[in-house]
Amino acid sequence: MEEVTASSPGKVILFGEHSVVHGKPAIAASINTRTYVDAWRNEEKGIKIEADDIKVPGLTLSFKEDQIIMEADYGKAAEILGYVKNAVDLVLEKTNLDSGISLSISSDIPVGAGLGSSAAVANASIAAVSELLGVELDNREIGELGHKTELSVQGSSSGIDPLVQAVGGIIYYKDGEFTELPFKEIPIVIGYTGNKGNTTKLVKEVNNRLEEDPEIMSPIIESMGDLVEKSRKLFENELEQNKLGSIMNINHGLLSSLGVSNKELSDLVYATREAGALGSKLTGAGGGGCMYAFCPDKQEEVSTAIEIAGGTPILTGISKEGVKIERRE
Ligand code: PMV
Repeated sequence: MEEVTASSPGKVILFGEHSVVHGKPAIAASINTRTYVDAWRNEEKGIKIEADDIKVPGLTLSFKEDQIIMEADYGKAAEILGYVKNAVDLVLEKTNLDSGISLSISSDIPVGAGLGSSAAVANASIAAVSELLGVELDNREIGELGHKTELSVQGSSSGIDPLVQAVGGIIYYKDGEFTELPFKEIPIVIGYTGNKGNTTKLVKEVNNRLEEDPEIMSPIIESMGDLVEKSRKLFENELEQNKLGSIMNINHGLLSSLGVSNKELSDLVYATREAGALGSKLTGAGGGGCMYAFCPDKQEEVSTAIEIAGGTPILTGISKEGVKIERRE
């Protein structure tokens, strides 16, 4: 039986989270940690999903039509399944399917850590099913369908995650359009606080603060846009490490002013700076989740500092590779 395996990387937002929701640019990068989806046809109608290892405790779940059948009740896993179902449906709209589809998912990206696990599972499902069914999609189109998936499941999303994860490398993103930036090695260590803020809620809270106090909050969003433009120039020209680090620190300060940082994140941010990082900031929605530290030649020291400060270091790197077909047989 024909079987296709596709994979998608996770991501870090390097600069511009939250301000990107308000029409400003952001810069994001794919990381070396990936989600894998196998897809094959089955005799039954409907979609069957096996999630062997998605970095939540072991489980087997499946769903048919609109009904989710769970053999174990793990909230985070159920959330992931919503992305898979929506993603597969978007591909099925483009073809006539006379069988069912089975998918098997495994992932090295921790679920709910803010490293793009949802977009990765959506992208990899879209890539695997479209390849299996002969629906031609390039990586950009996969990212666009990944964005549609996020919109159906979450209700709101700038689309930066699925796009950067689909095309790979480092992108400058604004209002749904993106430019690939020259790839530069930027040694980082990610620090995971162990819990994740609710993205939809945090985006709403920032909206509310902007509405309540536009004179104070709008300039913060403007400055965030300006610092993204500055860092873009560094990527396009010589990457002056000290300048890049200092922009990260400013971006973290501005995110704190928006109210999306917390003590766990700040503890990791300051611990990594003390351990020699040139810059560090929260990444993603905040309220928990992850931060990253830019730390050329200091990765070991910075990882240790994250552990001591109560976080989990995630050793990964920036990756050139976006979504890809791993295997077809
Ligand atoms: O929660 P994450 O890691 O997917 O990051 C969300 C980033 C925001 O800018 C806050 C929201 C968005 O849709 O871009």
